[in-house]
Amino acid sequence: MSLDHRPSVSAAIRATMLECNPHRKAMAARKVARDWRLGRLAFEFDVTMPDQPGRPDVPELLPPGRMPKRGKAGSERGRIALWHALAHIEFVAIDLALDMAGRFGAEMGEQFVSDFLAVAADEAMHFALLGRHLRALGSHYGAYPAHAGLWTAAHDTRHDVAARLAVVPMVLEARALDVTPATVERVRAQGDESGARILERILDDEIRHVRCGANHFADVAKRLDLVTADLWKSLVSRYFRGTLKPPFNDSARLAAGLSRDLYAGVA
Ligand SMILES: [Fe+2]
Ligand SMILES: [Fe+2]
Repeated sequence: MSLDHRPSVSAAIRATMLECNPHRKAMAARKVARDWRLGRLAFEFDVTMPDQPGRPDVPELLPPGRMPKRGKAGSERGRIALWHALAHIEFVAIDLALDMAGRFGAEMGEQFVSDFLAVAADEAMHFALLGRHLRALGSHYGAYPAHAGLWTAAHDTRHDVAARLAVVPMVLEARALDVTPATVERVRAQGDESGARILERILDDEIRHVRCGANHFADVAKRLDLVTADLWKSLVSRYFRGTLKPPFNDSARLAAGLSRDLYAGVA
């Protein structure tokens, strides 16, 4: 029997993942990260993580092929749809980071939990910033349909931390490093300076998230006595349903610890 009377970190994470209200989930994610940092939660894994996180009734989730066109890039509707799509990505990213810590924390250790709870807190902040921007544009999260596929990668890799790290931070989050600079340029050219600043801040944080994933992945490979690049390539070809396509943002990827010879061979 444990003499530790603090709540377990896994129970706190699970409760946050099950929260359906987006604002409350974002607040709860930041609170779990803070409570963990302050030593208020025990390193204990006495509950399992949910297969599906809680989510609100809206946005309606549609398969990628059924998503409505965003309209002309410069149109008001097209602009709002972009921010809505980004807000949805950050909303799902909160649960992705929480699930990483809560599902794999026991085998990966306290530093891993610290790292991914800090990521969850960042994602919650990103979601809050984008939600505020949407409201400034007269819209809100839930006003448009959203992409249904974002949790698929988590579900497919729920049994294997190496597969999860290979696909979620090192492929999906790394993809954000490639596409965000062009979005920043476009948004700035449209005169939306506050939007451009939000995206630049998110890009900085995402470089750290990818680096965090890549570092823990390298640790796992070492523990398994495997070559990092070989393990990554085999897991990506097995678990990632899309294709890795250039152009790559080589400098941001390098800053995140992904060398060109790692991903160039897979593309
Ligand atoms: Fe993010
Ligand atoms: Fe991220």
